Amino acid sequence: MDDDAERDGADAPTYRRRLLTRVVVIGATGQLGSDVVEAFRADAVTGLAHDDLEITDGEAVRSTLERVRPELVVNAAAFHNVPRCETEEARAFAVNAIAPRQLARACTALGARLVHVSTDYVFDGGKCAPYVETDRPNPLNVYAISKLAGEYGVLNDGGSHQVVRSSGLYGVRPCRAKGGNFIDTMFKLAAERPEVRVVNDEVLTPTFTHDLAAQIRTLAREAAPGLYHATNEGSCSWYEFARAIFDLAELKTPLLPTSVKEFASPVRRPTYSVLENAALRASGLGTMRPWREALEDYLRRRAA
Ligand SMILES: NC(=O)c1ccc[n+]([C@@H]2O[C@H](COP(=O)([O-])OP(=O)(O)OC[C@H]3O[C@@H](n4cnc5c(N)ncnc54)[C@H](OP(=O)(O)O)[C@@H]3O)[C@@H](O)[C@H]2O)c1
Repeated sequence: MDDDAERDGADAPTYRRRLLTRVVVIGATGQLGSDVVEAFRADAVTGLAHDDLEITDGEAVRSTLERVRPELVVNAAAFHNVPRCETEEARAFAVNAIAPRQLARACTALGARLVHVSTDYVFDGGKCAPYVETDRPNPLNVYAISKLAGEYGVLNDGGSHQVVRSSGLYGVRPCRAKGGNFIDTMFKLAAERPEVRVVNDEVLTPTFTHDLAAQIRTLAREAAPGLYHATNEGSCSWYEFARAIFDLAELKTPLLPTSVKEFASPVRRPTYSVLENAALRASGLGTMRPWREALEDYLRRRAA
């Protein structure tokens, strides 16, 4: 039986919960994608790795989706090695902009919803206060420009699609593009170096992929089409995040704050990219727990 009945009271949201019987997750071997597959385990979920589907191959995308005929597609695939996007512009736009647009078209043709994952990097950081969904993006690098183009391609397609922006992801499975996550890097540096220096002037919200995956499932089933910010609650600098990791994991190596000026990079990045989960709050669907609580949970799972 469809569980719409649960939502039929006076307080029911305008968009009714949908029971999903066929779900496809693209980028299923990634840190987020693997948790999204797990979050949809009660539905009939098909996880597609890069070997199963190349999202820049429009014909392969169409034929794969026509075969599975999903009600929902979650796209967690991206080319998101930020420095490499600067030198491989064509690939960045093919994977992050054109492919999501084609995916949205294929989903619309089948009557399926696409949930496409995007990034806090669409903002330039100049606001220095949490960004809401209606704030004007101003991406600073090729990765961010290509992701913003992908957002427009999905949202302007005319389907019932959603774009979910998040920030500073870490998960139990390693980030494929980076070979690990920030917490792995902190453990490694603490073991190898006499002291660890981390920037204190880049502010974000670290977000546990386990929490984001659960939020994506809720959004996909219950929320209206549109753009959503979805991060753990609160914010911190990378140094403050590292401090929490060192304290909770009892890493004894000295940890020192430093500035982005110490790590000269040819790639421009926002120094402030905190996302306010405003649309989520307005939808009444609930937000995610504070980032420190999520980190504690992650470290417990990692140690288990
Ligand atoms: N990581 C972050 O801090 C962060 C922050 C904000 C937003 N995001 C966004 O969150 C999403 C998920 O990121 P993640 O960290 O989970 O990434 P990830 O661990 O690198 O996983 C990406 C997945 O996509 C697959 N993939 C890459 N290119 C593909 C292509 N052309 N066709 C099909 N599959 C392809 C990868 O497979 P292979 O590895 O085998 O190629 C992998 O399974 C992305 O949209 C990213 O832009 C990430």
